[in-house]
Amino acid sequence: MIEEPPPFEIVRREDFSDVTYLLEVRHPEMARAARPGQFVIVMSHEAGERIPLTIADFDRDRGTVTLVIQAVGKTTREMQRDLVAGARLHALVGPMGEPSRLDGFRKVVVVGGGLGVAPTYPIARGLKERGAHVIGVIGFRSRDLVFWEEKFRAVCDELILCSDDGSVGIKGLVTLGLEQAMSAHSDIDEVVAIGPPIMMRACAATTRPKGLRTVVSLNPIMVDGTGMCGGCRVKVGGRIRFACVEGPEFDAHQVDFDDLMFRLARHRAAEKVALERWQQGCRLEAQAVPARA
Ligand SMILES: Cc1cc2nc3c(=O)[nH]c(=O)nc-3n(C[C@H](O)[C@H](O)[C@H](O)COP(=O)(O)OP(=O)(O)OC[C@H]3O[C@@H](n4cnc5c(N)ncnc54)[C@H](O)[C@@H]3O)c2cc1C
Ligand code: FES
Repeated sequence: MIEEPPPFEIVRREDFSDVTYLLEVRHPEMARAARPGQFVIVMSHEAGERIPLTIADFDRDRGTVTLVIQAVGKTTREMQRDLVAGARLHALVGPMGEPSRLDGFRKVVVVGGGLGVAPTYPIARGLKERGAHVIGVIGFRSRDLVFWEEKFRAVCDELILCSDDGSVGIKGLVTLGLEQAMSAHSDIDEVVAIGPPIMMRACAATTRPKGLRTVVSLNPIMVDGTGMCGGCRVKVGGRIRFACVEGPEFDAHQVDFDDLMFRLARHRAAEKVALERWQQGCRLEAQAVPARA
């Protein structure tokens, strides 16, 4: 009898920095179904919080999907501590959301800022596979935070690497790289920008005067991911849209970024308490270990 490997197993873990890590997870059906732009909802253990994470890569031959995660609060830090190669996720649901539009473009600029570099990768690869000329603009705070530069070079016709402090690539924000791409090319069909809301808003402001079609991937608080709870409400073109089922990608020039940022900040106090309680539990556990030994 052939024994099936356990589902949701972490087959590879890579740490990009103190706070950013990659998990490659076994899930052959998900790897077959996944398309650029989609996301999954993950539970790391039975009592864990459900958190949405973008599919940063998928490999149909290996039967895996890749997630790149920033440890910002209780759940993502707990996952950073516990999920090593060989461990398993409790649940992995998806792929969710509308896939990115990839067909019909001749020239596209794909902009990724910080962690946003990861979800833009499958979009850049998908565009390249369909024959588009792909200009990548990826930005990090400094050289030590750079990841996936080589992966991007392999799927981009041109790559502009930016860093806030000038330690690698051009010195400046990704909007500077985007401006350079726009002045070198007058025939860009579309810009895709993914990163923190403030960065996506700045990219929208950069392309708006030229009326250059721009798409952003929004990251509101999500709960069920099925369009039922309304937690992921965003304002686009004056209308309420549900990012989990109608997005997460939307026309950047229509998005109300102030509303998005306001809604994201609403739970900060509760999130801080949850993190502090978890950290306190970790400290108590660490103190208890020698006592038991
Ligand atoms: C469609 C989508 C794709 C995402 N993809 C990624 C990704 O690829 N990698 C990654 O690191 N992060 C991604 N995020 C954000 C990620 O879900 C949050 O960082 C995570 O839920 C934080 O949980 P926490 O307990 O560690 O932190 P908390 O302290 O609970 O929250 C920290 C911050 O994370 C955000 N957040 C918290 N809960 C949620 C939630 N249920 N849904 C959405 N955002 C939340 C809020 O901005 C909050 O202020 C994505 C979010 C969305 C909506
Ligand atoms: S997360 Fe509940 S409606 Fe989108």
